[in-house]
Amino acid sequence: MSNKMWGGRFGAAPDAIMQEINASIDFDRKLARQDIAASKAHVAMLRAQGIVTPQAAGDISTGLSTISGEIAAGSFTFSRALEDIHMNVESRLATLAGADAGRLHTARSRNDQVAVDFRLWVRDTADALDAQMRDLQVALATRAREHAKTIMPGFTHLQTAQPVTFGHHLLAYVEMLARDRARLKDARVRLNECPLGAAALAGTSFPIDRHMTARELGFDRPTANSLDSVSVRDFALEVLSCAAICAMHLSRLAEEIVLWVTPQFGFVALSDAFTTGSSIMPQKRNPDAAELVRGKTGRIYGALTGLLVVMKGLPLTYSKDMQEDKEGTFDALESLSLCLAAMRGMILDLTVDARRMKKAAGAGYATATDLADWLVARLNLPFREAHHATGRLVAMAEARGCGLEDLTLEEMNSVHPGITAGIYAVLGVRRSVESRVSYGGTAPKNVMSQARRWLARLTKEVKAEATKEPGA
Ligand code: ARG
Repeated sequence: MSNKMWGGRFGAAPDAIMQEINASIDFDRKLARQDIAASKAHVAMLRAQGIVTPQAAGDISTGLSTISGEIAAGSFTFSRALEDIHMNVESRLATLAGADAGRLHTARSRNDQVAVDFRLWVRDTADALDAQMRDLQVALATRAREHAKTIMPGFTHLQTAQPVTFGHHLLAYVEMLARDRARLKDARVRLNECPLGAAALAGTSFPIDRHMTARELGFDRPTANSLDSVSVRDFALEVLSCAAICAMHLSRLAEEIVLWVTPQFGFVALSDAFTTGSSIMPQKRNPDAAELVRGKTGRIYGALTGLLVVMKGLPLTYSKDMQEDKEGTFDALESLSLCLAAMRGMILDLTVDARRMKKAAGAGYATATDLADWLVARLNLPFREAHHATGRLVAMAEARGCGLEDLTLEEMNSVHPGITAGIYAVLGVRRSVESRVSYGGTAPKNVMSQARRWLARLTKEVKAEATKEPGA
């Protein structure tokens, strides 16, 4: 059978391999909802502009609703011979609405059709991801408030650096997610223009109203250049970039969880809900969810790189290469969604061994900076000199195999005669964190107020969302 859509020009059916390489229905069926919404907006516009009769428009619209119902019910038959979602829907519409169904494609091409469908999908998905990022922020800030005072070692080079609080550490990720969301929001501003009506590439001679379809589909305005409209996928690339950066943040947190749950660290534990056992080693409890969050980051980067490469050599306007935009984007954004959900689950699930964390916080001379700061503040030493004196005390403690707080005053005085017993007060980890009151510092009272500030802000956002009219 020759093709229904271009059978006028073509006499024979495509080769089986041609069909195999050409068909996208196996994955672009995911765009069904968007495709039907865009077609409905298009036909309403055609009718308003007097391009199709109210009768034809009504039949088409009813047919599209029927198809929508069939797809939702799982009774719609997707056919690979019909190549993609656009032709699958149109073909079924022909059965339902008769010859008038063919009027739907007036002043439209699959090029602007796929461009609008894909934009809608990316936009809807980005919005859903934003809500998930917010939910993860809520989880992190909730645990941060609970652990505003819980002391843990802070690291640089993965070496014990200075004591911090666990709440402070978690709030670092709340900040990262805030920027991830801001990036997404910013990308959405540029994404939210409607390419429908660009037709194949040059626009159309029909008196269409692109502002109407744009409005109908929730876009801010129609795109301004028909060639650009059907040529670009930068909206997807931007969202994929946002996804890649967010995934990188999640991956770092995942890596930390992987470290923290080892018997060597033992800072936190995950329950049965977020771990797996080993088929051979009965003692094992593996943080698979965290490892997979870390691992899935690879495919998200892959999708971004893949699409950049697909697009880089394409002359304007549409080329079939662009059909390769979908699978990677679908997979990447769906993977990120899963990662966000899993991370939220783990953050809410994890239990903290505060004693172990605190003990580790004091190991490795973590309060050496506090000691140096004391020398500066009390003895008015220049910081470099204080750093040097402290270094000698650390070496001394190391040689004795003890902590800084275990050095006698005599030993301290051998390094600097001005040191008094008052110094011992700053060698404890609690005093150390409590003293870090500079803006953005780790002092528990800072952490508490930041956690509260975040929770108030996020809760307000959730409430505003809940009272918003659906579809608004
Ligand atoms: N399935 C195609 C895609 O995803 C739709 C656009 C086809 N356009 C064309 N001129 N062949 O890109």
